[in-house]
Amino acid sequence: MTTGTDAAAAGSATANPEAVAMARDATTEAGPSHPPPPAAPAPPGMTVKLLDLTAQYRPLREEIRAAIDAVCDAQALILGPHVERFEQHLAAYCGVKHAIGVSSGTDALLCALMALGVGPGDEVVCPSFTFFATAGCVARLGATPVFAEIDPRTFNVDPADVARKITKRTKAIMPVHLFGQLADMTAINAVAAAHGVPVVEDAAQAIGASQNGKKACAHGRVGCLSFYPTKNLGAFGDAGAVCTDDDELAATCRKLRVHGSGHTYYHDLVGGMFRLAAIQAAVLDVKLKYLDGWHAARRRNAAIYDEVLAGSGVVTPPVEPGNISIYNQYAVRVPDAGRTGTRDAVKAKLAARGVGAAVYYPLGLHQQKCFAGLGYNEGDFPVTEQACREVLALPVYPELPEAEVRYAAAELRRAAEFL
Ligand SMILES: Cc1ncc(COP(=O)(O)O)c(C=O)c1O
Repeated sequence: MTTGTDAAAAGSATANPEAVAMARDATTEAGPSHPPPPAAPAPPGMTVKLLDLTAQYRPLREEIRAAIDAVCDAQALILGPHVERFEQHLAAYCGVKHAIGVSSGTDALLCALMALGVGPGDEVVCPSFTFFATAGCVARLGATPVFAEIDPRTFNVDPADVARKITKRTKAIMPVHLFGQLADMTAINAVAAAHGVPVVEDAAQAIGASQNGKKACAHGRVGCLSFYPTKNLGAFGDAGAVCTDDDELAATCRKLRVHGSGHTYYHDLVGGMFRLAAIQAAVLDVKLKYLDGWHAARRRNAAIYDEVLAGSGVVTPPVEPGNISIYNQYAVRVPDAGRTGTRDAVKAKLAARGVGAAVYYPLGLHQQKCFAGLGYNEGDFPVTEQACREVLALPVYPELPEAEVRYAAAELRRAAEFL
């Protein structure tokens, strides 16, 4: 999503590449191993939106409006009881002691890094294949994002490369649980422990995803969530949360979100304006009850894609043993086999058949103009750069009718026949 933040305005999520936005190794020779199934009959005018937020809102309309009304009646608009109630429910859901509601996923990252004292001269190791906020927050604090390569199967950061990137200046490791599947936290925590540095989980795309029975945000010292409307748990605007078991860190984050103030007009720290609006908390608290059902529906849709795309030229996303994905994105690989533009040609064919799809991410963060000063070059992260050329996210939202998933999957199979 844009995540362009997700540039896509939530309201136009269906049109926004981001808003709406692997069992075979990408290096395997592509090509269908058996004839593709007959093209799904294209019902006249069938379109499959990348995301349709109205489908989720419709059945919850009365419940959500009542929750918003309660905030309006109370006029406790920022932080306050609605936020506190949501924080308690969220902490219980994630399996952590503290959840601190903040103004966005970006601000959650910023707040967590500030609480850990990240600043000028420090380095934070993170992937280059992620939404900009991951590294942007590090840079905003005057620290240096140090990029690490990703695993070609999961697109998550490669713990072995993280280990290679640790220096005396490393202040934190920040894995991203991309597309809704956790990075290898056992290996990452082992690297962190060996060097005595904390792990900040960027779990913006992974609320409720788990590894070995433990949910995202419960593996590192601190975890950060985004409730951008296109996330599995989406607010009616921007919102986020910082989660941790660490009492002291939680207290610091609570201060940092109100300009470092413990008591009104007395500032112990220089913080930010990271407060969560009560209306967002009220909406999120209603939706949290339904979240596991939505995750399950996304997994059902993913299983249909897995089945229909098996043996095609498209690489479906594997879920590693011990992981449960929440499929914030169902992201396939369209192998380019040295031909540039293959993925984009497939995306265009899908669009012509009424199927929305999105590119996550067209450019690694090491290739972004604003990070030119960091001294990276094209070719420094070949696995990341290949993912940038090949990854395509398909419609997977929970309310998507099965017929539409099957249609989208069959159309993708056809569009990729030439691979
Ligand atoms: C991996 C990742 N990190 C951080 C963020 C930032 O979240 P937000 O858009 O709520 O600021 C996002 C969301 O877009 C994201 O996908």
